[in-house]
Amino acid sequence: MWSRLGRPVYLVDRDDQQLLRAKEYIEKLRAESQVPSLGRWGQIITSPSQDLPKAVSDSWLLVECVPESLALKRKVIQQLDDLAHPDTIVASNSSSYTITEIIQDLRVKQPDRFIGLPKLRGTNGKMLKAIEIMGSGQTKPEILSRLVEETRNHGFKPFQVHRTSTGYIYNRIWAAIKRETLLTLAEGVASPEEIDSIFKDVLKTPKGPCEQMDVVGLDVVLDIEQHYADVRQGIPEEPRALLRKMVAQGKLGVKSGSGFYDYSESSKPRD
Ligand SMILES: NC(=O)c1ccc[n+]([C@@H]2O[C@H](COP(=O)([O-])OP(=O)(O)OC[C@H]3O[C@@H](n4cnc5c(N)ncnc54)[C@H](O)[C@@H]3O)[C@@H](O)[C@H]2O)c1
Repeated sequence: MWSRLGRPVYLVDRDDQQLLRAKEYIEKLRAESQVPSLGRWGQIITSPSQDLPKAVSDSWLLVECVPESLALKRKVIQQLDDLAHPDTIVASNSSSYTITEIIQDLRVKQPDRFIGLPKLRGTNGKMLKAIEIMGSGQTKPEILSRLVEETRNHGFKPFQVHRTSTGYIYNRIWAAIKRETLLTLAEGVASPEEIDSIFKDVLKTPKGPCEQMDVVGLDVVLDIEQHYADVRQGIPEEPRALLRKMVAQGKLGVKSGSGFYDYSESSKPRD
């Protein structure tokens, strides 16, 4: 979407295969016209990690998208702050850690240029336009207003978080759905099939909460829920206990072949 107005976009990753896959995926999205360009598409420039300084010096906005580990995010954000021109905006795509938590205790030279910018991701492979925007409390107001304008111009649907929050708007709501689903399961009130079936029937969504958690990965769901429990009062223990039990059994969801459902080859219907 950042290439829709014809501007070039750098993709930097330490894994060359990921860069190839990302480029193919972007071509597919463009061909499907899920997000049509407004004129000609900007160039996608794939760069290995050693070319990071060049990508940073050419860009007005840097968005880190490394895996959801606070230590890794801090390391990358520090690196970006060290490399970037003072006018460059530095953003995190993290949907569970706020930018305030990420920059806490870092020795950044420009504390007022950081912003949380998680792009929501669909569960059925479709592009979503929703993007949340949250400052750190120190973020310059003009950066917030510029990003609202730029995201809208690039075809996103921006949602500015009104005040610093423990989690983004959508993630807080989704966390509550996951938590109550896990509690319902832990109490033996309903099975995953029943919960997903009633959820899809009422809300007309393609996946129910158990199916969605299996896609995200139950270890990741546990990390996110643990993070909420660490920073907020009153988060019940039972949902995390159920997740810990499943993770200890190797049930991580789709990626491990089983979670709430069985994804192994042997479970697939034969022709
Ligand atoms: N807003 C949302 O709805 C939403 C949804 C899912 C994920 N996310 C966020 O996106 C981010 C990435 O998640 P993902 O699922 O795409 O992860 P992923 O593991 O699929 O991709 C992360 C990429 O980072 C690369 N990487 C790891 N360490 C690196 C380093 N030190 N330098 C350069 N590249 C490095 C990996 O090679 C990989 O290509 C996370 O912060 C996550 O919270 C947001």
